[in-house]
Amino acid sequence: MGETSDRATPVPPGSRVSAPNDPETNRPDHEQGRDPRADDRVTASPLAGSPAGEAGKVLGTRDSQPLDFWIAVNEEHYLQLDDVVAVPTTLPEPLPDGTRQVMHYGVVDVVQSAYEGATFHSDVFRVEEGQLPVGLSTIAHVSATRIEPEVFVPPRPGGSARRASGDDRRFALYFDRMQRRFPAGLSRDGQPVYGNLEFLDGTKGAHVNISGISGVATKTSYALFLLYGLFHGRTLANPHAAHAIVFNVKGEDLLWLDRPNARLEGAEAFAVAERQKYAALELPVQPFGSVGLWAPSKPGLEPIPDTGGRIAGVTPYFWTLREFCRDRLLRFLFADADDEASQLAYAISVMERQLETAVESSPEAPWIRIGDEKISTFDQLVQYITEDHLEAMTPHVADGTRGAFARRLHAAATAVGPLIRGAREADAREHRFDWTGKQVNVIDINRLSDRAKRFVVGVVVKRLMEEKERQGTREPLVFLVLDELNKYAPREGHSPIKDVVLDIAERGRSLGVVLVGAQQTASEIERRITANASFRVVGRLDTAEGQRDEYGFLTSQARARSALLKPGSMFLSQPDVPVPLMVQFPFPAWATRAEEAAPDPDGSDVPSVFRRAALEE
Ligand SMILES: Nc1ncnc2c1ncn2[C@@H]1O[C@H](COP(=O)(O)OP(=O)(O)O)[C@@H](O)[C@H]1O
Ligand SMILES: [Mg+2]
Repeated sequence: MGETSDRATPVPPGSRVSAPNDPETNRPDHEQGRDPRADDRVTASPLAGSPAGEAGKVLGTRDSQPLDFWIAVNEEHYLQLDDVVAVPTTLPEPLPDGTRQVMHYGVVDVVQSAYEGATFHSDVFRVEEGQLPVGLSTIAHVSATRIEPEVFVPPRPGGSARRASGDDRRFALYFDRMQRRFPAGLSRDGQPVYGNLEFLDGTKGAHVNISGISGVATKTSYALFLLYGLFHGRTLANPHAAHAIVFNVKGEDLLWLDRPNARLEGAEAFAVAERQKYAALELPVQPFGSVGLWAPSKPGLEPIPDTGGRIAGVTPYFWTLREFCRDRLLRFLFADADDEASQLAYAISVMERQLETAVESSPEAPWIRIGDEKISTFDQLVQYITEDHLEAMTPHVADGTRGAFARRLHAAATAVGPLIRGAREADAREHRFDWTGKQVNVIDINRLSDRAKRFVVGVVVKRLMEEKERQGTREPLVFLVLDELNKYAPREGHSPIKDVVLDIAERGRSLGVVLVGAQQTASEIERRITANASFRVVGRLDTAEGQRDEYGFLTSQARARSALLKPGSMFLSQPDVPVPLMVQFPFPAWATRAEEAAPDPDGSDVPSVFRRAALEE
């Protein structure tokens, strides 16, 4: 027993335990549900020695409340931020079922140390010189996560607090209530933190939303880690049936998911530590097992993937003119149609109908026919529409709107030309994006203009929803990882893409489409999207951003700390657990850039261990 509790008795017995002007506790007594008998305990003699496993005792000098209380930390122990603690409290009378013990579980979110008995700041020097006897007190604030059984009494001051492990920890973090749980990271002490799959797979909820500063918040990495845990762990009953569609928006980061990360190989401390994290999560250390890579095709007759570096194994994607007309994809070229919203939207839908009905095409022909004209490129289609036929194709549309329509269509033509081609059905089939063949399907859009990005995202998402609707079942689950969500679902304005993304947020749950969205700031995003996400995650946030309403799921401590989070550390909020948990996740086991990628598995220079991992499946 340290001096902590010996010295914690500056208050005369029977008076208020906390200082009246203590900012932490200056709430009226009746709000605090205090046990009136607690006061009598203040002068009770300290227990002889600390029971095994005790980290400290519930403080009596600050109000102890059912949902937040303070612990005086034993001198021979420490408690750090994010530690999980358990405090048993014995009730003065038994509950109807005979139970007398209530357990308070919680997470440490403040720790403070101070001298007791020192008055002046300079006393610290006198103490160090041995001239002034003082006590050192360390106290920790606990935000309760759970009270079991649900009897909302405060933990009794003097009660023994222990660091939660084993069952305590399972209860504290509600893992016992998660019938199926997925790995969500590790707590600071290296133990797994889980998420409740029922809130991800649509049973009770769905969707993940991740915010944080670009490049340090590790948003994309965390999204991929979640997928990896689901696909390579034991959570999903049939992981091979689940799929992911991942848009690659930055560099070639995600075009190496099928290659092992060389940084995790070998005996260096970093590699060993990261591999241990995977082991703690019961996950293998390997790249994604089943990966399809797709990139837009370069301009030119032959479709060639337009990536900066990686070409091998990348399928160029495009859509045919036939699909463009038949499936009413025109609207996705007008993603920013806000300003002249209703007029332009009308013109677009009239034109879509025209194209749908006027187009004749046969699967054997690499062109479509409108009236007498054969059209085999997107440029030709734009010319056909804008040069001679605009008036005829858009009757009842005002001239000004027609002009706006034509201007935008021209602008789009350069951006998406290579993505919409005349092609025979037989040739087009292998270039049509298809998520059913592989487990993880990366669609590269990073070199496309914003307009083309929106087109690709819009079309892929629309199709996905249609396909899932036709299936009519939640299985197979499809996870859609959409970075830079603010581009597709900004808070202000309307657009066809925003509509499809909103559709996922609102109906995806019942269709088994799970949106894993990420953006720098949640405040830029349509509220209904963030509100529908069961899992809210932040990495490093800008200090001012962290104070916004959008992060109401963070405690004030978590908000402050979010400005300091390092890569690989996130705050995770999930419906089951009332406080956000700090989680750390391991460095990617798959390469995230060419330098990290172990050599091509087809190459003869590849160590066999790599070859096996990369070729699995
Ligand atoms: N678990 C981790 N621990 C430490 N660094 C990581 C971890 N995961 C990823 N990183 C590094 O952080 C960088 C940024 O990650 P990224 O996910 O691209 O951030 P964001 O999507 O927020 O811009 C990556 O280049 C990677 O090297
Ligand atoms: Mg990112």
